[in-house]
Amino acid sequence: MSLKGKDVVSIRDLSREQIEQVMDLAQKLVPYAKGEMTTKAMEGKIMGNLFFEPSTRTRLSFESAMVRLGGRFVEIAHPTSSSVVKGETLADTVRMVEGYADAIVLRHPHEGAARLAAKYSSKPVINAGDGAGQHPTQTLLDMFTIQQEAGAIAGKNVVIVGDLKYGRTAHSLAEALGMFGAELTFVAPPLLQMPKETLNQLESAGIKPKLFSDLKDVISEADVLYVTRIQRERFPDPSEYLKVAGSYRVDNALLHEAKKDLVIMHPLPRVDEIAPEVDYTENARYFQQAFNGVPVRMALIMLVLGGEL
Ligand code: NCD
Repeated sequence: MSLKGKDVVSIRDLSREQIEQVMDLAQKLVPYAKGEMTTKAMEGKIMGNLFFEPSTRTRLSFESAMVRLGGRFVEIAHPTSSSVVKGETLADTVRMVEGYADAIVLRHPHEGAARLAAKYSSKPVINAGDGAGQHPTQTLLDMFTIQQEAGAIAGKNVVIVGDLKYGRTAHSLAEALGMFGAELTFVAPPLLQMPKETLNQLESAGIKPKLFSDLKDVISEADVLYVTRIQRERFPDPSEYLKVAGSYRVDNALLHEAKKDLVIMHPLPRVDEIAPEVDYTENARYFQQAFNGVPVRMALIMLVLGGEL
């Protein structure tokens, strides 16, 4: 059951109990994440951050988490600054970095890259997003945020809206919510609905999500609204992107129809899918959600590397 030494490539690599373990420890780590208390739990440990795709929150919150735990990190923050531009393979890069670090955090534009890295690394590999695949650490902080802000996960109607086809945060989150007994509603233009693979995965676990294309049809029933960005960079054809660009938007007019205590989340970055006016409502929790990346990633690092407070 212990997470020590484990790879975290897909959210399915974790059991429900292990996800709960991360959330429980994250809760205890909040004062450390804020810098109100200090710890040397990860003193002497080094994390190797390999970011081959742009990242703000994921990279900075992993770094902040490791530093708050008294550890250090080495990193490739831009693919152009590494030997990858000379043609080095991911397998070789990983075999090198495992000699420089105790765990590897990888973000990569290709689906399956983290699984490949885990195959070549004897050190734990944490997937920080692989193409349109999975983003399990985002899911851990999303689950933590739902638990904190909505008071529970089981029984809550979580509406996931946006680019469910290419959005890796949506894929991981849907599977984890299924494990915890949330009700699932997926809203997307038909071209961007949830992939068959994720729907089959849910179905085999006995979960039947409701599928819609218009947010107006479901907003009044939502307990949590999880908004995602259209993943423009993953569209093979720009004209396909233009067909769906701007096809949904959350603004105050839409929220008139919503429950008073609706929790609105977004993994960020947003483009135009949430109007800035929504930031000033009680419902907006996406900046709190972004902060939660620090205690949750601290918890995961401690459990994977085996540290104590
Ligand atoms: C997401 C990602 O990279 O998948 N961002 C993040 O990690 N918070 C979402 C996105 O890019 O739209």
